[in-house]
Amino acid sequence: MTKAAELIIGEVAGNHSMIELQNITKIYDNTTVALKDFNLTIDDGEFVFVVGASGSGKSTLLKLIMKEEEPTGGKIIINGTDITAMKSSEIPYLRRTMGIVFQDFRLIDKMTVYENVEFAMDIVGAGSKEKSKRVPYVLGLVGLSDKARRRPSELSGGEKQRVGMARALVNNPHMIIADEPTGNIDPSMSYEIVELLGEINKCGTTIVMVTHDIEIVKKFPFRIVEISDGRVKNDVGRRNKGV
Ligand SMILES: Nc1ncnc2c1ncn2[C@@H]1O[C@H](COP(=O)(O)OP(=O)(O)O)[C@@H](O)[C@H]1O
Ligand SMILES: [Mg+2]
Repeated sequence: MTKAAELIIGEVAGNHSMIELQNITKIYDNTTVALKDFNLTIDDGEFVFVVGASGSGKSTLLKLIMKEEEPTGGKIIINGTDITAMKSSEIPYLRRTMGIVFQDFRLIDKMTVYENVEFAMDIVGAGSKEKSKRVPYVLGLVGLSDKARRRPSELSGGEKQRVGMARALVNNPHMIIADEPTGNIDPSMSYEIVELLGEINKCGTTIVMVTHDIEIVKKFPFRIVEISDGRVKNDVGRRNKGV
């Protein structure tokens, strides 16, 4: 394993932020400016809502963090490592530190709830002993122990998203990245989903959640970063490190 990969998957080493974007510009196809002069620092253990109108650059921000897109200019540092300079062979190690939660769940309907979560561990080559401990544990965390043998099609939207969260958590990531995780579920269930993310955050996992649902954001005491026209327009409620 290379030095950069070791750093990223290693323990969170105290004195630096988890996610840092420095002077980022992202221009698609030489024409569409999605982000410009964009600076953002997210500390280890923070919960951050990213809000803003459609087209303001929220998903682009997450794609840059996951290295699904490359910035046109600027630097991105994840857990102390500059990922802009990272080799493509190292990207899988970066992704393993991130649990991704999707708006449309992306569950495999041929598989049971249990198998969907287990599959995420198969991908990283986990052994059966480890899986048989970890999968029931995370299903318990999201309150789905009794639905383990069901298929996604038999679940409500809120339950499907809880499977999505169990899958995101199962490999013990440093951070959860969620793009509109409540976008396809009804408002009463949405509250529970964010509450659950809050519980996960209490255990130390950094959370970045994109949403345009201002009503739900207002119900929680977390940091809110508002993006407008590719820039940070507002940044409120940031907790001091260690508080
Ligand atoms: N792959 C892409 N190719 C070209 N333009 C894109 C692409 N992805 C996003 N954009 C454009 O970049 C801007 C920001 O998009 P996006 O980050 O998806 O915003 P949001 O998630 O806030 O709705 C929009 O103008 C969008 O049309
Ligand atoms: Mg988006």
